[in-house]
Parts: sequence; C-alpha cells; structure tokens
Amino acid sequence: MLDFAIDLAYRAGALLRAAAERERSTEAKQHSDLVSDADRASEALIIGAIRERFPDHAILAEESGASAGAGSYTWVIDPLDGTLNYVHGFPFYSVSIALAHNREPLLGVVFDPLRSELFAAERGQGARVNGRRLRVSATASLGAALLTTGFPYSRFSQPDNNLREFARLSLRAREIRRSGSAALELCYVAAGRSDGHWELELNPWDLAAGALLVREAGGVVSDWQGQPWALEERRVVASNGHVHAELLAELSAAG
Ligand code: IPD
Ligand code: CA
Ligand code: CA
Repeated sequence: MLDFAIDLAYRAGALLRAAAERERSTEAKQHSDLVSDADRASEALIIGAIRERFPDHAILAEESGASAGAGSYTWVIDPLDGTLNYVHGFPFYSVSIALAHNREPLLGVVFDPLRSELFAAERGQGARVNGRRLRVSATASLGAALLTTGFPYSRFSQPDNNLREFARLSLRAREIRRSGSAALELCYVAAGRSDGHWELELNPWDLAAGALLVREAGGVVSDWQGQPWALEERRVVASNGHVHAELLAELSAAG
C-alpha cells in the first residue's frame, strides 16, 4: 500500500506541476481559501485510482469530502496543500496522502513536485525522504529554534487567530516562517530543517501524513495542551521533542 501511495503522489504531483504552466481557473471557498481546477484534477486522479484498487476503503478528501467504506481503512487526501501558493506561483506546495486504520495513520506520503522530494513514513518503520532516513533536529531550546506556523482562513472574523501567539513566539524563537503548506512544513520538522510547527484550524488531510512523518522521525505531535495528536484534532504542535514543553508553555501564556 505504501508503494501504491508513493506512485499516486508522484502522478498527482506531476499533474500539478504540468497544470501550473497553464492558466488557472480559481474560486474562493471563503476569503483566502481557494480551490483551483488543479486541486480537483489531482483529487480525481487519486480517488479514481484508490476506488479501482481498494473499493472497500473509505476516503476522506478535501474537495469531495467523506465517503464510507466497508472496512476500517480510510485514505486521507489533500490533493494540493498550498493552493494559495500554487495559484500565485509561490513555489511551495505538496500532495499529501495518508492511510489510516481505525483513525490511526498507518502510512503517509507527502510529495513536493518542485524539489522532487518524496517524504514517506510507515508506522513503526521510520520516515524517509527519497529513500534516505530522516531524523528530527537536536535543537535544545526555543531561543535557538526555527519554527513554522500558519494562520486560519477565519482570521478576518475570528479573534482566536494565532496573531497573539505569533507575536509572542516571534520574540522568543530564533525565527518563524510561514510557508503555506502545513503538510510540507511538518515534513521539514521530520527532516530537521525546522524545529517545530504549530497551527490551529487544520484538517485531517493537512495533518495525517505529516504527523506520522514527524513521529517516525523521532519527534512529538500533540494538541496545544500536550495530549497526543489524534486525527480529528485541529490544533497541532509538532516538534523535535526537545523544544516541545517550551513551545506549549509559550502558546498557553499567549492565549
Ligand atoms: C492550507 C495550507 C496552509 C494552512 C492552511 C491550510 P490548502 O491548505 O496547509 O499552510 O495554513 O490552514 O488550509 O487550503 O492549501 O490545502
Ligand atoms: Ca491543505
Ligand atoms: Ca488542499
């Protein structure tokens, strides 16, 4: 199933990359929450292949929602994570595909078609990029940490929108980036390229694959209270483990 997911992620990534050359048709679901014809084409490719190969499996996909299956397996799919980047031509987006068994991610694949980086993890088997084993960073304190985050689409109307947390952590961490693809940002935590990521109002398709990558690379993924992250939890803190407690304490102090 991992090989199947990897092959699908490559195919969907190639589709996105080729489609980026053409003119996009884009709609706004809400203010800055966009969907393009490329999101839909990528999702149709992925879902079509899963239905053909595993007709009993359930699917939870961003653009078409949930469809039940006969068994306990669910594919959790973000056909294009980073749509806003994609439509603006900002080169940071990915395809994220995970398979969960009884709501627990079993395998996860995130593909970055612009750097040809394929991040993959299987529960208990470690995490890899292009076949190379990944390990989270050794950064020991928040003051030396490079973090990533994102802001919810509801920020225009919702006061609990991560701006207070961002302001506080900006003065405590070494630096913060917000790159616009949560799935890929989690893979960067797994790869030791950043030391932690926090965000709210995410969905299972943004997180399922990337969270497994972080855990399999030796990191920690929790909610904002420090409880282990589970599939429906929308607030996430993912880190190398060493800066986790400090990061949680700062989020709590900001809130
Ligand atoms: C978005 C990205 C972004 C995050 C948003 C997500 P989309 O996914 O992961 O980094 O900040 O909350 O919705 O809409 O591009 O698939
Ligand atoms: Ca997404
Ligand atoms: Ca998406």
